[in-house]
Amino acid sequence: MAVSYKELGLVNTRELFKKAVKGGYALPAYNFNNMEQLQAIVQACTESVSPVILQVSSGARKYANQTLLRYLAQGAVEYAKELGKGKNVPITLHLDHGDTFELCVSCIETGFSSVMIDGSHHSYEENAALTKKVVEYAHQYDVTVEGELGVLAGVEDDVSATHHTYTEPSQVEDFVKKTGVDSLAISIGTSHGAYKFKPGQKAEIRLDILKEIEKRIPGFPIVLHGSSSVPQELVKKINSFGGKLDDAIGISEDQLRLAAKSAVCKINIDSDGRLAMTAAIREVFATQPGEFDPRKYLGPARDALKALYKHKNDSVLGSSGHAFD
Ligand code: G3H
Ligand code: 13P
Ligand code: ZN
Repeated sequence: MAVSYKELGLVNTRELFKKAVKGGYALPAYNFNNMEQLQAIVQACTESVSPVILQVSSGARKYANQTLLRYLAQGAVEYAKELGKGKNVPITLHLDHGDTFELCVSCIETGFSSVMIDGSHHSYEENAALTKKVVEYAHQYDVTVEGELGVLAGVEDDVSATHHTYTEPSQVEDFVKKTGVDSLAISIGTSHGAYKFKPGQKAEIRLDILKEIEKRIPGFPIVLHGSSSVPQELVKKINSFGGKLDDAIGISEDQLRLAAKSAVCKINIDSDGRLAMTAAIREVFATQPGEFDPRKYLGPARDALKALYKHKNDSVLGSSGHAFD
């Protein structure tokens, strides 16, 4: 049965983005697939008093089951209320990398307050037409829509690209006008996963392109995907406990901080969370080989994830303290 996100206590991104652009910070967009990740996100964002976007990819939907995810998100609002002593930080439930109109509709019907339609692998005209169609449907239900222009290198669910196609600044104004989209994901050198740059390569994103885009659509909410920093202490820890992550390199936190101070108001982070959990679990397996209670390794993984997200909110995104602006 269809349910509106408003009944679940969730919010769309419209007001959150307005405040973030004005306040010079970015909202955390953290992916989740299971209960421990959700607990870590809600605990971290409540403690740092940060609004938060819970992201669900189509892979997450398949993994966790869409009905369970819907109730988990609803539970997140209640849990945040409990932790916040009656007052919950604002929570958005967002579809990450939606690739069809039908998937967006299905998510909206099951309580999502925001959807991404990622038409970036289509031609410009096809992308604009698909995005417009989703916007027209979503806005009837006051659900906000993220579009994407430009292609990130790396893997996004079943789609992968070997090279970046940077967003063309001359196209953004037309795309935003034509589609009525609420926010725009751009490609400026970030990419998905833990291998964003080759060793020896200049590990920098194109903040100059971001500036150029901002000039064309001043104050319009910009989104950065692929924004994990791949903390080297986590990579070392994983490798020291039997893992094998060679030459994993991410985006520098300093560059993300600069982007968050601009019109970038949503920063997507998934891989760093995976690294934090994996490092903690590997440590338990390596140091306590007799342990077989999942709570004994998922618990430390959840705590490590929470600490990572608090750090992101405080020192990278700048979203801490802004939940009730
Ligand atoms: O954009 C990619 C996100 O990290 C989601 O990853 O498709 O493996 O769930 P996933
Ligand atoms: P990372 O792989 O850099 O964490 O990016 C996640 C993302 O963009 C989700 O949409
Ligand atoms: Zn992404």
